[in-house]
Amino acid sequence: EFHEHPNQYAWSFDGPFGKWDTQQLQRGFKVYNEVCSACHSLKYVAFRDLEALGYDESQVKAFAASKQVPGVDPQTGEATTRPGLPTDYFPSPYPNAVAAAAANNNAIPPDLSLITKARHDGSNYVASLLTGYREVPAELKKEFPDFALSPTGHYNPYFANLGLAMAPPLTTAGQVTFDDGTEATVEQMAKDVAAFLTWTAEPQLVKRKQTGWPVLIFLLFATVLAYLSKKQIWAAAK
Ligand code: HEM
Repeated sequence: EFHEHPNQYAWSFDGPFGKWDTQQLQRGFKVYNEVCSACHSLKYVAFRDLEALGYDESQVKAFAASKQVPGVDPQTGEATTRPGLPTDYFPSPYPNAVAAAAANNNAIPPDLSLITKARHDGSNYVASLLTGYREVPAELKKEFPDFALSPTGHYNPYFANLGLAMAPPLTTAGQVTFDDGTEATVEQMAKDVAAFLTWTAEPQLVKRKQTGWPVLIFLLFATVLAYLSKKQIWAAAK
């Protein structure tokens, strides 16, 4: 009962007429890049996919080249890293799961590509989780005196078991500077990165919704046609 359902935010991509807010996706991408990517990968997103957010080829190329991705040394054949290409995927900040766990008190930061699909009401969940950190409520302590967070846990009523290993990643307004002048409150950054992660999980969401309209119009047309044909075919039988 101390677990809370996510806040219901108004998303531009909600509803049958939903559309991406590309400005918001760009802001969310910036939050991911400057904050979340220190711990979380996006292994199903290629750098070139960023063109859908309105970046051009040269921007994507430059961004990819600024990241190190896993590679192979052509001389020795040993594993190494090289600057990214547009066709590469967002890399993990850690060389392997052991290193990831070692850096995070034994909790492995999950890949975020599909997190808004993996969790119920994912867009609202991610935004709520990021803004939901707080003290353990007094009523909880009263009702369950034995309740104890792990020493490296952080209380968050939106997380399934109330305590998670991730420290609050968004703590101060202006932590990220938005290029479009939007004020970077914690809630704004949280919503924007949640929108971005909704896009990473389903880049075709808006296209999928828009495909429905021609289908409906066609079906309506076909229904009218079928009705008129029926009338004509049976006209003599009156
Ligand atoms: C878990 C998002 C930054 C470390 C998670 C989860 C999400 C998330 C959605 C999964 C919660 C679940 O399983 O339902 C984000 C976002 C970030 C961010 C959007 C940037 C704004 C960071 C940073 C670190 C980090 C900077 C490391 C310093 C972790 C760890 C977990 C986690 C260790 C696993 C927690 C557990 O299972 O207890 N994060 N994260 N995250 N994150 Fe982050």
